[in-house]
Amino acid sequence: MIFKKRTHNCGELSQTNINENVTLNGWVSKKRDLGGLLFIDIRDRYGITQLKINPDNSSVYEIANRLGQEFVISATGMVMKRESINKNIPTGEIEIDVNEIEILNESDIPPFVIENDVKAADDLRLKYRYLDLRRKNITDNLILRNKVYQVVHRYFEKHGFVEVETPILMKSTPEGARDYLVPSRVHKGKFYALPQSPQIYKQILMVSGLDRYVQICKCFRDEDLRADRQPEFTQIDLEMSFVTQDDVFQILEGMFKEIWREVKDIDLPESFTRLTYDEAIECYGIDKPDLRIKGGLKIVNITDAVRNSEFKVFNDAINSGGTIAGIRLQGSEVSRKIIDSLTDFVKNLGLGGLGYLKFNADGSVQSPLTKFLSTEITESVKQAFSAGNGDTVFILSGVRKKVQSVLGQLRLKLAEIFKLTDESKYEFAWITDFPLFNYDEEEKRFVAEHHVFTMPKDEYLKFLDSRNIEEVESIRANCYDLVLNGHEIISGSIRIHKPDIQKKVFDVIGLTDEEARQKFGFILEAFRYGAPPHGGAAVGFDRIIAILCGLNSITDTIAFPKTLKASSLMDECPSEVSTGQLEELGISIVKKS
Ligand code: AMO
Repeated sequence: MIFKKRTHNCGELSQTNINENVTLNGWVSKKRDLGGLLFIDIRDRYGITQLKINPDNSSVYEIANRLGQEFVISATGMVMKRESINKNIPTGEIEIDVNEIEILNESDIPPFVIENDVKAADDLRLKYRYLDLRRKNITDNLILRNKVYQVVHRYFEKHGFVEVETPILMKSTPEGARDYLVPSRVHKGKFYALPQSPQIYKQILMVSGLDRYVQICKCFRDEDLRADRQPEFTQIDLEMSFVTQDDVFQILEGMFKEIWREVKDIDLPESFTRLTYDEAIECYGIDKPDLRIKGGLKIVNITDAVRNSEFKVFNDAINSGGTIAGIRLQGSEVSRKIIDSLTDFVKNLGLGGLGYLKFNADGSVQSPLTKFLSTEITESVKQAFSAGNGDTVFILSGVRKKVQSVLGQLRLKLAEIFKLTDESKYEFAWITDFPLFNYDEEEKRFVAEHHVFTMPKDEYLKFLDSRNIEEVESIRANCYDLVLNGHEIISGSIRIHKPDIQKKVFDVIGLTDEEARQKFGFILEAFRYGAPPHGGAAVGFDRIIAILCGLNSITDTIAFPKTLKASSLMDECPSEVSTGQLEELGISIVKKS
């Protein structure tokens, strides 16, 4: 089909083009009839331009009148200065006086109006994702994503990394989440798995001498989904040989500096904040602290300050080895209603109640606890928090880990209620020295905190032979996360390259030699042929795009995302398959009664 091709796109004409004859191609975004004169907004990826159609030109007017929303058209005419200027769009000073119009394709009435401030429910948007993607704010997310993609490729190329594609069909070696399995037709009864990450391949590439590997790759995990989790998502995956943790940090910090400079025109600090895991938990109650919160709202341990009080709840906690700790809120008006809602909040998280002390402006103290706390103890609590008059401190008591984690959540809640988060900031922090293992109380065994190939820190190697739970739990690893604005955006570690250490780690998690061989035989075999010291990390690509776009969820950074139930509403997958397909695979579906 021959059609009149565009001379310009819909976002580039301005006053400098006045009196030029132009042709635009695009979609009908809006049509208004102003007493005979027709105004049509034509849209493409680049912008929107106003077309003016005069009734005097009857053939053009007749076609324009038939146009519906989202019809695809070609319009030709003269660029004119606009009478009423629209300052909100770059083309707002001009319009096209149309003398020729062609319908290139009609459109059904769209299920929702395509506008930035869309009114449609999320499910409808996902079902008609191709229409949703016509919205400028979603297109802009994809364009930003592409920009970051290009910066990342250029950056790693410049630093001598080799991009290597790794298999999508691999051996099932579950890392933490469930694997997505793919049945084999040739080997009936056997399955491939989709990679949860290319972890094993990238380590094998180090054995192969590739030295610096990177890949922007898809990962697949069958896990519970949330706003920052998709069943298939993208990582910037990298691995480096003959490096220490600092070398990995330097490369990644450089990457972020380049992305932020190119995409946001922001210079990030020379080096990023570092906190050990223990410091993060101690101060923020969480291993992904949001450091944008004004006043810090750090957790303060006041166990010593209240050791000799008359308060039974505190004393019970102390006598059973627990902790009393809290957070100081500076100078905000804390109403009874807020205290009640915060009390419900901590109760819902499994603690008995919330203590508080309000240090009034006149020096008096308002608190249900005052009757149990002497003036001296109240004063030492005030000092422990460095609280001044006008501040309120919130206090929790109980088992240490629980108190810390609930305070971590209370901190975020306070920041939300009192609007203490500085949204204009980008606060990066490396969290280092994670525990190597977690003790799973239910299964009564240790599991790897990151993954089984993570190298323990030298000074803890001696505890790998211990079977004392506390000693094993105390082992810290060369394992790190990078947190940005309270989101985990990177995870990585220095890996074990020595078979004897690897065997000890398998022993701790209760993996027998036979099980280890079955699961990881190929990598263990590879490691027998000269594995270099190596380490790496993986960046949650969708998450950094969401943060750069100012989004709370990664969904709209992905062209075709899945719902929280892991389905795609547009192509309706997962879906049933024919009996023939199943037979070929040797699979039969058993219906549960
Ligand atoms: P990890 O499992 O921590 O580490 O993943 C690395 C980063 O990927 C992002 N991420 C996700 N993003 C969206 N949806 C998900 N379901 C999802 N799961 C994880 C997070 C996370 O920090 N192989 C190791 C890395 C290594 O050791 O090199 C790994 O995959 O931002």
